Amino acid sequence: MKTLYSATKPTGILTIGNYLGAIKNWITMQDEYNCYFCIANLHAHTIELSAEFVRQKTLEQYAMFLACGLDPKKSTIYVQSMVKEHSEICWLLNCNTMMGEASRMTQYKDHVAKGEKSITTALFTYPVLMAGDILLYNTNIVPVGEDQVQHVELTRDIANRFNHRFGDTFVVPKVGARIKGLQNPTSKMGKSNEDVNDVILLTDSDEMIVKKLKRAVTDSLGQIKYDEENQPGVSNLLTIISACENKSIDEIVKEMDGQGYGVLKNRTAQAVISVIAPIREKYNYYMSHLDELMALMQDGAKKAEVVARETLNRAKNNMGLL
Ligand code: TYM
Repeated sequence: MKTLYSATKPTGILTIGNYLGAIKNWITMQDEYNCYFCIANLHAHTIELSAEFVRQKTLEQYAMFLACGLDPKKSTIYVQSMVKEHSEICWLLNCNTMMGEASRMTQYKDHVAKGEKSITTALFTYPVLMAGDILLYNTNIVPVGEDQVQHVELTRDIANRFNHRFGDTFVVPKVGARIKGLQNPTSKMGKSNEDVNDVILLTDSDEMIVKKLKRAVTDSLGQIKYDEENQPGVSNLLTIISACENKSIDEIVKEMDGQGYGVLKNRTAQAVISVIAPIREKYNYYMSHLDELMALMQDGAKKAEVVARETLNRAKNNMGLL
């Protein structure tokens, strides 16, 4: 069985974008791959967040992973900081990453471009920590949204360089749908989005979902057509319905032929509710059974640690580190 690795940062409540773009695919992959799913809480601290915020979001995301259908019996589901090998491998990989490569990563570049003054060195080496996550588990495949592809490519470069310098140490990994925001349909729907109307959270009530979708930006063309360039809002709603109902966009366009945008928005809301309502229920269960959640976290970390330690030791040994 090949190994699959993916992670999310606990910097907010997961959105329908995270679910449709990433987590939904992970659920089905659990039967085909040896899967690792991680809450990347060390990555969360690359920007200024409070300890309480990171702690709370870590618990919430872990509960949400389980609520979405990630299964601890099939997969290793763990929290990054509970496996100390992540921090250690990051240094080894830093020694094998070029300044130029790290400077070209968009995450860092975006913060610089915004003129931010308090950028941490951790933000600069963020993709190296991510490379460590992937490489520690001998990963073959990393399913990520489009925004993270660049980081997986860097991981490949680092792994190849390391293997070339120090001998075969790491498996070189290989690199799913991108759901965009509702108010600003040309950019991705992120969990840290400032406009609350732009994101549908996996914890939103049915009423909130209907309300947010009623406000979704469309256009004045008055036709339900998939045309990303001229009708990005309508196209995004069609993408969301298609992903929620597992139907092709063509099929939905045919079904909606001659209908108005009000009907389209309502159909989108119903499609989203059918996905989110059962997830929300399970999530509420785990958040009110924190002991159970913590026990699962400990188990996940123990399982992850075994493989992580083996890879780390191999890398240290190959680097001549006693
Ligand atoms: P994060 O937390 O920003 O996002 C988690 C995953 O969700 C995908 N995603 C989306 N996909 C489609 N449409 C969207 N609107 C959307 N929003 C988010 C992201 O591409 C990602 O796959 N650095 C990573 C976390 C990470 C990681 C890793 C991922 C840490 N270590 C190792 C893979 C492997 C991040 O910030 O993801």
